[in-house]
Amino acid sequence: MPRSASRSQTRFKAVVFDAYGTLFDVHSVASLAEQLFPGNGDTLSRLWRQKQLEYSWLRAMSRRYKPFWEITRDALIYSAAHLSLELSSECEDRLMNQYSSLSAFPENLQALREMKAAGLPLGILTNGNREMIEVAVRSAGMGGLFDHVLSSDTVQTFKTMDTIYDLAPEAFDCRSRDILFVSSNCWVAIGSRYYGFTSFWINRGGLPLDRLDLEPDYIGRQLTEVLKLVQASGAKKTH
Ligand code: LAC
Repeated sequence: MPRSASRSQTRFKAVVFDAYGTLFDVHSVASLAEQLFPGNGDTLSRLWRQKQLEYSWLRAMSRRYKPFWEITRDALIYSAAHLSLELSSECEDRLMNQYSSLSAFPENLQALREMKAAGLPLGILTNGNREMIEVAVRSAGMGGLFDHVLSSDTVQTFKTMDTIYDLAPEAFDCRSRDILFVSSNCWVAIGSRYYGFTSFWINRGGLPLDRLDLEPDYIGRQLTEVLKLVQASGAKKTH
C-alpha cells in the first residue's frame, strides 16, 4: 500500500515535477471553452486532454514525434469535430493562447518556493516542448525556481518511454530512486515508478488508482503534502 505523505521520513536528492495537470491546471481552459461553446466547455476540455494524451502515447510507441504544442492543437481540432462544434481559426487561436498560459493550481507557487528555500534541487520533466513549457513557467511566475526544465524535445519522445525519464537522473547526476517524481496523472506517477523513481501521486480529484500492477510510493491531495514529505528529515527510504 502507498504511504500517506505525512507519516514518511525521507531524504531526496531532487524533486522533479510533471507539468501539465500537475503544476498547471489543464482544465483552466474550460471557462473560455464554455464561453465559446456554451454547454460544452467542460466536455471539450476533457476530451481535448484525453486526445492530447492518446496522441502522445501513439506517437511515442510509433516513433512519430511531433512537438506537444502541435499535438495539443491536433487534439483540439479533433475534439471540436467530434463534438460537432464549429471551431473557427479565431476560436482555435484563442483556446491555444489560453493553453499557453494555463493557471497554476493555487497552492503550487508557494509550495515550490518553500521547497526551493529548503535548498532542494527542483526540476520539471514534461512532454511539453521547450518553448511551450518555458512560456507556461514564466506566465505562472515560476521562473527561477527550477534547476532543470527537461523537455520531450531533447529526446523526441513522450512519457512513459524510458528515454524521456532518463533525462532526470542524467541532469541531477543521481540515482533514479533518489529523485522524488511528482505527478497528478496517476499513469505518469506509476510510469515513473516502473522506471525506478520514487513516485508521488497528487490525487486532487479523489480518483481511483489506475490498475497497472504497481502503485505510486506516496499519495497526497496537493503539492503542500509533497512539501511536508521533503521537509521531514531522517532516514532514507528502505526500498
Ligand atoms: C506532462 C504531461 C504528461 O506534463 O502532462 O508531461
